[in-house]
Amino acid sequence: MRHNISDAADSRYAHMPVMWREVLDFVERSPGEGLGCLVDCTLGEGGHSAMLLERCPGLAVIGIERDPEILEIARQRLAPFGDRISFIHDNFANLARALGDRGGLDFFLYDLGVSSFHFDRSGRGFSYGGDERLDMRLDGAGESAYDVVNRYDQRSLADIFHGLGEERWSRRIAAALCREREKGPVETSRQLAAIVMRAVPKGKGRRDQGIHPATRVFQALRIHVNDELAAIAGSIREAWRRLAPGGRIMAIAFHSLEDREVKRVFRELARGCRCGGYPHCQCDGPPLVKVLTKKPLVPHHDEMEYNRRARSAKMRACERIESGGRG
Ligand SMILES: C[S@@+](CC[C@H](N)C(=O)[O-])C[C@H]1O[C@@H](n2cnc3c(N)ncnc32)[C@H](O)[C@@H]1O
Repeated sequence: MRHNISDAADSRYAHMPVMWREVLDFVERSPGEGLGCLVDCTLGEGGHSAMLLERCPGLAVIGIERDPEILEIARQRLAPFGDRISFIHDNFANLARALGDRGGLDFFLYDLGVSSFHFDRSGRGFSYGGDERLDMRLDGAGESAYDVVNRYDQRSLADIFHGLGEERWSRRIAAALCREREKGPVETSRQLAAIVMRAVPKGKGRRDQGIHPATRVFQALRIHVNDELAAIAGSIREAWRRLAPGGRIMAIAFHSLEDREVKRVFRELARGCRCGGYPHCQCDGPPLVKVLTKKPLVPHHDEMEYNRRARSAKMRACERIESGGRG
């Protein structure tokens, strides 16, 4: 690859942008005239946006972020780029509202999930390795992880662990959690991780595979609390409506449930469906996008070695077809 993966390392920030060289390639090699405008729908600490703004002088970025605390970090980091960057505090579920009447945009980037900032610095209990109050909300709205863990019934908890964490021991863990909370509320990430550790049968845990037994439970809670999967497909369809012909959507997923959503909506657009098949797709038109990644791209081995958190990444990209119908 043309760039060293370590070019993106900056110790002031917790998060290292994943697959940034691949994102840069899709931007630089796009068929459009000039670079135009990229919407970074998951701005985070602004790692991807910083790399793109530095390397593509003709590019402007609109950064959308749901978490006001991390958005503030990005604001300060990207201030030197002046009016080439603008910021929107919103959920990408509300893309239409966030973008108002902006159209003819050239790129959309979705770097899904949460940031290393959330795991390492937010103090909101995202990580099984810390001892923090269970919260896990990105924007402070709705139920926290504490509410879910202490108030949901056993069956609902098991369903969450199974459905959103693909946790094999979901029922055992839910039962153990409900027994434990009879003694008093489960307040911290450390307490929860210890309950999961004890509930997973010895020898069958995932330590041998290098995955902590609580990984999937924490992932499931975070996805549930922030309703992370529900917004993806609708937002990507709205992004397509706002794209200029030849414009591109790039999405990086970190687990199979996210990747499945991205794959599904790209496929729908590629076969001409803009309604999402609800209730019964009657869209009868030409393909709206060309999928540029027959199989998802994965990080190069140098990135996997350099950045452990990149290991599970999968990237897909599609391009709006010139003659594709209007939104
Ligand atoms: C993987 S991080 C992005 C990291 C960023 N690309 C970078 O290089 O610094 C994902 C970010 O998206 C934000 N996020 C997650 N879901 C969101 C949503 N529905 N709308 C807007 N932002 C969201 C998270 O708060 C987090 O900061």
